[in-house]
Amino acid sequence: MVLKNKVKSYANLQVKNMYKINKKLHRIDWIYSEYANVTTTSLSQFITSINDTYYSNSANLYSSRFVSDIHREYENMFNSINIRNKINMPYIVDIGGGTGFEYDLFKRFSLKFHHFKYIEPSKDMMGIFKKSLTKDKIDKLSFHNGHFSDVVDVIKEEPNKLLIINSALHHIIWLEPMLDDIKASMKAGDLFVLGHEPNNNYSQILMFIQKLIRAVFSTALLKRLPFLSRSRKNDVNRWNSINEELIKKGNINKKMSPLLIRRIIDYGVGYKNDWMKLNIPKEYNEGFWNAEDLSSYLGSDFNLLYYRTYRHIGDSRGNWVIEAINRLMGKLLKYQGTNFIAVWEKRSN
Ligand SMILES: C[S@@+](CC[C@H](N)C(=O)[O-])C[C@H]1O[C@@H](n2cnc3c(N)ncnc32)[C@H](O)[C@@H]1O
Repeated sequence: MVLKNKVKSYANLQVKNMYKINKKLHRIDWIYSEYANVTTTSLSQFITSINDTYYSNSANLYSSRFVSDIHREYENMFNSINIRNKINMPYIVDIGGGTGFEYDLFKRFSLKFHHFKYIEPSKDMMGIFKKSLTKDKIDKLSFHNGHFSDVVDVIKEEPNKLLIINSALHHIIWLEPMLDDIKASMKAGDLFVLGHEPNNNYSQILMFIQKLIRAVFSTALLKRLPFLSRSRKNDVNRWNSINEELIKKGNINKKMSPLLIRRIIDYGVGYKNDWMKLNIPKEYNEGFWNAEDLSSYLGSDFNLLYYRTYRHIGDSRGNWVIEAINRLMGKLLKYQGTNFIAVWEKRSN
């Protein structure tokens, strides 16, 4: 009975969290009114400053994360859509290229390209990527330190494009203008690859199972004890520095909790349901998008070529038990993992 009620309330919760296209008020508007030093900071400055400060304190974490399962999922996707036949020597547009995951991906699978355009607003992320490049690699690569919207007009003229966003769309707060830019920049036959994004339809029963398995087979519980874990201590220091910098720069009027900062950065991650702990009034909640929402917003000109989920019980960080369970569940439940990869093709008229 208790479990039945829980299932019911989780189902309600997912319905309540459905993404509302073009909603006027957003969660960020409430956060801004509560935490910003509005005399010195506009909403866009507030967001830019939180992003810059977060990434300058966290950029190193992105080049040292566990990615071998993400590579495997990309390999499956490339094989499934037969990428080499689908698009030959594309002009690649890498939106939110970070420390170079996507660039490495194309090199790793020996996928040749005509040009690789790397777009990244954070100087720190871009700096790490540039440092990782050897001279002979820089061929056919160009950089834009800024946003995708800055370069849409130039990019849309290029034929035979492959747009790729990996683990970055859920960082975008105003989704609709971003999707409008993507639509405007693509020609018939171009591909849009979206990888490692949160599956906001993730079942809360699986979430419960995930927590149970991680408590038994990983150090997840021990890591909660700051005096036992060095990484936890470093984490506390990192959140403190982010807050101190934001207060010093005059962007915020009071300290923000790590969860609040994480949810501003990972804005589109809804399946963890920890947004609820922030007590944001419901009229400010625009919900959380999913591949279905993206497909319907992209419209009938776009054909969904591929959709698969993975990491059914979350990031294994190399823990072989969790990795084995993830692989097994991936075979059984194709659409119920925590993350997804999707590919759309722009149809010819
Ligand atoms: C989690 S990182 C992912 C980086 C890389 N794609 C990867 O998978 O390793 C998210 C990246 O999105 C970038 N980003 C945030 N807002 C963006 C925007 N409006 N346009 C382009 N990139 C953005 C961030 O600066 C950050 O480098």
